[in-house]
Amino acid sequence: MARATSFPARWFTPLLALVASVALVTGCSTIGADDPTSNPTGISTDAEATPTEPAQDAEFATVDQALLDAGRGTLTHEGLTVTNLLVTHEMPGLAYSLDIVRGQVVRQHHWDGGGQLTVTPTLVASSTKALAVALKATTPAGTNTAIVHYDPQTNHSFASPALIAPAQWEGFVAAVRELAGESGDQAATQLAEPTFPNGAGPAIGFSASGDLVVHFQVVDGSTIAPVVVPGDQAAGMLSQFGTHARAAARYPTAAATPERFLPFDPTVVGKPSTTTPSPSATPTATTTSGSSSSPSSTASSTPAPVVDKRPQLVLGTDCQVAKCVALTFDDGPVPQTQDVLDQLNALKAPATFFVLGTSVDNFPKMLTATAANGMEIASHNQVHNQMSRTGGELLTRQVTMSADNIRELTGADPLFLRPPYGARNKSSDGITGKQGMAVALWSVDTEDWKHSKASPQGAQNAILAAVNKQVDDGGVILMHDIHGNSRAATTAVVNQLREKGYTLVTMAELAPADWRFGRAYCSSPAQRPSCVG
Ligand code: NI
Repeated sequence: MARATSFPARWFTPLLALVASVALVTGCSTIGADDPTSNPTGISTDAEATPTEPAQDAEFATVDQALLDAGRGTLTHEGLTVTNLLVTHEMPGLAYSLDIVRGQVVRQHHWDGGGQLTVTPTLVASSTKALAVALKATTPAGTNTAIVHYDPQTNHSFASPALIAPAQWEGFVAAVRELAGESGDQAATQLAEPTFPNGAGPAIGFSASGDLVVHFQVVDGSTIAPVVVPGDQAAGMLSQFGTHARAAARYPTAAATPERFLPFDPTVVGKPSTTTPSPSATPTATTTSGSSSSPSSTASSTPAPVVDKRPQLVLGTDCQVAKCVALTFDDGPVPQTQDVLDQLNALKAPATFFVLGTSVDNFPKMLTATAANGMEIASHNQVHNQMSRTGGELLTRQVTMSADNIRELTGADPLFLRPPYGARNKSSDGITGKQGMAVALWSVDTEDWKHSKASPQGAQNAILAAVNKQVDDGGVILMHDIHGNSRAATTAVVNQLREKGYTLVTMAELAPADWRFGRAYCSSPAQRPSCVG
């Protein structure tokens, strides 16, 4: 596997080291470029020039997957081999976040032209306070890595920059720039980007010995060697969550969740502090509480507030910032689902497909193809009956059967179920929850099925009018890929939503930390916790 040893300059001779130390004086920062063990100050020493010095481990820790109660599933389709961790029901936020990141990786790959792709998950940290799963996405061009960092106590997931305290971010970037040597500028540029797959930003995690490891992505066909920030140096740069994550990589223990998730406290990932550490700081100035921020009262002794320059801490689209909407299609798959996929791919738009068990039985390859396009797959139960009127034992069999079939064909668990006709009750919600799914209703009913005999233009106008009238932030739009007029309206619906400033996302992306298995939702739980009794 890749280690931080790929620069030829690694094999410094003492003479070269001497030349390099002259270069340092003239402002060139190539010293120690190759060697993460080098003095972070960049000042040359005899030790760093010794080629026999052992290389530091530039790999993320590999943690025994048995510490996390999870199975594995694999999607194989044409050039794709996508392996998934099937996580336990007690960690919904981790399951939704893995679903989001995997979907993004697969969609982007497809939109970039497809071909060979292997996605492999590895547990790289585990404790009761922090978990991390690295997803390695390998194509002929190289390997990109995404890490899902997860706090089992609050059910929240984070992108890699959450490991670093906001006040330390610039120092961290400077350290990485130094350690990356001649690739320093490139490294710093990539660190400013949202983390892969949101952007080309590197994956950040820890080695088994607790060093901070930065894995860069493939950009324009090339990549930078991993950078290792020595553990002692890294320790002072971490957020509280980052400190937990480091311990969970060094001394992994079994993952567990509390009886109830704790309310999310943003200071865990380093809410920007209003102060900077200073020996002359007054006692009040060191208070971390937001209520202490009254810069004018302490006059000139108060340091400037820390501006959080870290890239996005959220995996997937940040729907707290963007106006999000989820487009969903029911009752497929049918062979014509391909028409919807073609339109979505041309528009680079994600969607969620609530597949009906009997349709899956008829067209299993279409389901696999939909998943291989990176679309989110959810359940519409096995048969199109009212779940509220189906007996418990029979319903359990149906719900389990449809979820099992989806897992078998796509390698992933469905995390949502939409009851046919929206007909649900407490008992059917309970059965759905036991199978590890939230109950997904809708906030925008396009009533597209009513227009299946209208002219395509007439149907499209009616569908657009319905969307226009009902859509709002965090909304869920109901359509059906079994009707020709609905399929034909897909492009117009996506374009209209985008013109109105909406970002299209999958269901999971609407609020990954807030979905609860067995609870029913009409729209994002972050916007409206519930729409049903
Ligand atoms: Ni239906």
